[in-house]
Amino acid sequence: MQVIHTIAELRQHLARFEAPAFVPTMGNLHAGHLALVRQAKPLGDVTVASIFVNRLQFLPHEDFDTYPRTLQADCDQLAAQGCDVVFAPSEQELYPEPQGFKVHPPTALADMLEGHFRPGFFTGVSTVVMKLFQIVFGQSRGQGHAVFGKKDYQQLMVIRQMVRQFALPVTIHGGEIERAPDGLALSSRNGYLSADERAEAVQLSQALKALAAGVLGGEHNLAALEQLATHTLAQRGWLVDYLTVRRRDDLQPPQPHDFQPGQLVALGAAKLGRTRLIDNWEF
Ligand code: PAJ
Repeated sequence: MQVIHTIAELRQHLARFEAPAFVPTMGNLHAGHLALVRQAKPLGDVTVASIFVNRLQFLPHEDFDTYPRTLQADCDQLAAQGCDVVFAPSEQELYPEPQGFKVHPPTALADMLEGHFRPGFFTGVSTVVMKLFQIVFGQSRGQGHAVFGKKDYQQLMVIRQMVRQFALPVTIHGGEIERAPDGLALSSRNGYLSADERAEAVQLSQALKALAAGVLGGEHNLAALEQLATHTLAQRGWLVDYLTVRRRDDLQPPQPHDFQPGQLVALGAAKLGRTRLIDNWEF
């Protein structure tokens, strides 16, 4: 496996391949990231993972400075999965000058849910993913592939729409959410949790499953279900940003005819102590 730190070297290395399969990450890899790499491997003729903690997608009060940076351990895990290339640029390499040009996703998709609670987040994500795509796919002759986890459901939708609207020669694949045995979605931020918080953390996925069960049980008064779920978590000490049921295809609130099997997703974000967790449950 090659570990490459500069754009020039990566371009030179990838020029000999037809169609990379790419998994962008911010590192501190866990089994969720590694599953995406395994999913990517058969899609292209070279498998590339990037590791870059993207300052543009963090708000000033968020955890950019403390986000875990574990490059050596990440590379060991990626090598064990058969990843071919790791692209780990410095900030100076990816943003040598202030990134004044940015990709602004449509407000209808990007200003709700995560975008509402983290203003500018999807602009930061879209901008870095566009830049990484230029770098990874810029010299490929065939159709490229990139894999994103459903854990970040809205992010996956934003990237799909970006690729469609800019006609990028990349197919986007969604990877299923990897969970711990108790049901907690794996996340680099789980490492921030104390032992007590870790035991409690599973309640977020429980709340989403309860929302789904309520709808499947015939309750279509979503406001009531969402209030109950929010109240339940709040009682347990969580600070809930949102717990909501949306349509899968555009993340809008469902209309009466949307209450069909396979059409909906329950999404949630909430803070436990200082750690903000997100999760979702398709049903
Ligand atoms: P990061 O949080 O490191 O996640 C990298 C990829 O792993 C994303 O596509 C994310 O959805 C996926 N992922 C995380 N946890 C997962 C889990 N439990 N199961 C399956 N997939 C999981 O998302 C980002 O980085 C950044 O926003 C990035 C796209 C790299 C742009 O900076």
